[in-house]
Amino acid sequence: MRLSLDRSRALPFLTDRDALDGAVLDAHGKVLTGGTRSPEMLGWRQMLLEPDDALIESVQNVASEIRERADVLVCVGIGGSYLGAEAVNQALAPYFGADSPEVIFAGHHLSPAYHEQLLAYLEGKSVYVNVISKSGTTLEPAMAFRFLRRFLEERFDDADRRVIATTDKSSGVLRGLADEKGYRTYVVPDDVGGRFSVLTPVGLLPIAAAGHDIRSLFYGAVGAARGLTDAGADHPALAYAGDRFAFHEAGYSVELMSVMEAKLRGLGYWWQQLYGESEGKEGKGLFPVTLQYTTDLHSVGQYVQEGKRLFVESFLRLDDEKAGLTLDEEPDNPDQLNDLAGTPYGAANKAAWEGTAEAHREGDVPSWTWTLPRIDADALGEAIYTFEHAVAVSGTMLGVDPFNQPGVEAYKKKMFRLLGRD
Ligand code: PA5
Repeated sequence: MRLSLDRSRALPFLTDRDALDGAVLDAHGKVLTGGTRSPEMLGWRQMLLEPDDALIESVQNVASEIRERADVLVCVGIGGSYLGAEAVNQALAPYFGADSPEVIFAGHHLSPAYHEQLLAYLEGKSVYVNVISKSGTTLEPAMAFRFLRRFLEERFDDADRRVIATTDKSSGVLRGLADEKGYRTYVVPDDVGGRFSVLTPVGLLPIAAAGHDIRSLFYGAVGAARGLTDAGADHPALAYAGDRFAFHEAGYSVELMSVMEAKLRGLGYWWQQLYGESEGKEGKGLFPVTLQYTTDLHSVGQYVQEGKRLFVESFLRLDDEKAGLTLDEEPDNPDQLNDLAGTPYGAANKAAWEGTAEAHREGDVPSWTWTLPRIDADALGEAIYTFEHAVAVSGTMLGVDPFNQPGVEAYKKKMFRLLGRD
């Protein structure tokens, strides 16, 4: 295990936490053996225990074609059908001047301006589209895809070859359309929910098309899944799940995922969806919110320190203490920074994490710190699985079904009624 969890600022807030270990191991056992609610939705673990190398190779081959032929790949999807890919691509890409093709996401909201300007931006470029929808009926991606499909058909003789559809194996409107047009398709397995699907072709194709190593990503997760098979209650995923449950029962209502490296911002958003949709039901769950530090310390930091007491906090940081540009001495010290000479950015960032965690502890905000050894595909795969397993365990401890999301339907029904659809 290379992803580490420091609980030293969480445990002092919990009484008799060890007494919960039996319940944690019981819930963990249910995840391992199919004793959870919706046991038919545990494919996100099973697919790692039985890796399908041929599938990974097939995705790599299609991604190579996209990399050779496309200026832009537009990935159309919402929720679990895009957040994982966006998170990994953001984490692995350089900040500036990323490699081609450009990978753009669409159909993840209903902004009129975004989708209009996207079509204008694509003009004159070689475009591929990966449309991703497990149900194949979600309005946001369906609308975006209609315009993108027409865009391709009006401009390219091989339009249908430029579309890859990732959807259910047999049902849904998108499956029917893909079969009719002869698109290449990948399947979102029946036993993997959207927010658990980043390591299926849902995430793997956009990530591979951006030039990243999906085999290492996948096998990083495989290592984490195998490592959890015989894990004890002190395994980071299980300890975290148990602590979260204990805080929930003690009346805390919000968990902040505070990322200390901007490249991990997307991973925070992915975590936010994974935890919000998996736990937030039946009047239960910690409300998950991701923040980016130190940026957000200068916005909501005031509230976290001194506002209403609601929070537990997960810091997500990189082991990068020695990294980055280092301050040196300047003659005459015009900016008054010479007292910090010898300080690299990484050391300043580490001090910001430690100082914030300590200040928040004094402000009655318990925290964990997750430390990634580095950002690469393998480490991200490990982190992804660790968080997936933890939420399956904590949701099971709460007694909810971590794999459904009935509440998401409510807005859709009202929206469709307003649009005049039955
Ligand atoms: O986790 C989930 O299941 C959801 O967030 C879905 O991913 C999201 O609603 C998109 O659904 P679909 O892929 O069916 O379009």
